[in-house]
Amino acid sequence: MSAFAYRNGGLHAEDVPLREIAAQHGTPCYVYSRAALTAAYRDFDTAFTGHDHLICYAVKANANLAILNLFARLGSGFDIVSGGELARVLAAGGDPRKIVFSGVGKTAIEIRDALNAGILCFNVESASELERINQIAGALNRLAPVSLRVNPDVDAKTHPYIATGLKENKFGVAYDDALTLYQRARGLKHLKITGIDCHIGSQLTDVAPFTAAAERVMALVRSLHADGIALSHIDLGGGLGVQYQAEENPPSINAYAAAILKGVAGRTEKLLFEPGRFLTANAGVLLTRVEYLKRGDERNFAVVDGAMNDLMRPALYDAWHDILPAAQTTDQPETWEIVGPVCESGDFLGRNRRLAIHEGDLLAIRSAGAYGMSMSSNYNTRPRAAEIMVDGAAMHVIRKRETVAELFANETLLP
Ligand code: LLP
Repeated sequence: MSAFAYRNGGLHAEDVPLREIAAQHGTPCYVYSRAALTAAYRDFDTAFTGHDHLICYAVKANANLAILNLFARLGSGFDIVSGGELARVLAAGGDPRKIVFSGVGKTAIEIRDALNAGILCFNVESASELERINQIAGALNRLAPVSLRVNPDVDAKTHPYIATGLKENKFGVAYDDALTLYQRARGLKHLKITGIDCHIGSQLTDVAPFTAAAERVMALVRSLHADGIALSHIDLGGGLGVQYQAEENPPSINAYAAAILKGVAGRTEKLLFEPGRFLTANAGVLLTRVEYLKRGDERNFAVVDGAMNDLMRPALYDAWHDILPAAQTTDQPETWEIVGPVCESGDFLGRNRRLAIHEGDLLAIRSAGAYGMSMSSNYNTRPRAAEIMVDGAAMHVIRKRETVAELFANETLLP
């Protein structure tokens, strides 16, 4: 059952009416369900029972401290891509020994901080990065744990902006170079080879690319083994898609797990996963209020107080998010463009929606828990939305709404 459901005509987050959240905390605001986040984590975890594994939540999907803390309490590790994310995970009480560090552009400072924190592993994405980590580890008199992120050259069949596993993408080291690079890494004194990694893209709605990538990775694992390079873990990345609209049918977590487990049958290395969207997307909504209705010859616009700066996915990827009224009505639906106040025609949250709406109504933009707040900006000098976590009948402000004064507090006039 969804954590967001109608009761007595009003949409609730768990036991709290969204109307009540808007009344207390204003709009736009992100609303998350603790139960939904917990359930998603447990479903993922349970699906891999039987094979030693570690979930490393991809922090970029939603980096709020309360959410990181919730996952840390559930036993999660973390996949980070910046020094900023490292600091967040540590501030949220995450265990550094469960952190993997991905990304093509790790700076010397980020590498040093991660080494000092004692992370589980660097997912190394180039030959130069391997040399840099070795050199920094040497200077700190440490042994740096490394995996190579291998690019398996598999088509993830997703939006081109979020496909990462093709030769043409900037990510990882080329499959054909991996063996040579591992041999090079073995020769570097301050590195300890611990694993192998791949991540082919995000919002995958088919298991086939996952199994294809896993097969390619397993072939490498066998070659490495034959060459005397033993690994302690295999990181298969994130990317499992979620349902944004009814026609979309991503594999169930169990189907995904079954396919992966079949591919690694007989191997004893620990499996690592880096899910982001799966854990958070459907555990959050963006709550927004209708400011104005503008009826026109060509189109009807509902101008809401949330915008592309709050939720960028529709503008950036033409992504679909279901939009529900917070109060059910029997009024006749009409077709609406749901748009924000930002001065760009790309500022829409939904197009062509059949809804019965009135000025002052509240709307919930669904599936906004992943890559919503984390990709938000202050464009048009709009303070970022508040974030509220619902837990049963309780609601907690987990991020205050920004104030306008905060937005230019770091700016100075010329002398
Ligand atoms: N691991 C690595 C190395 C990644 O780059 C990503 C996502 C993940 C794990 C998590 O992938 P997930 O399980 O969430 O699919 N902003 C886009 C998504 C970008 C994903 C970038 N990398 C969106 O809103 O759809």
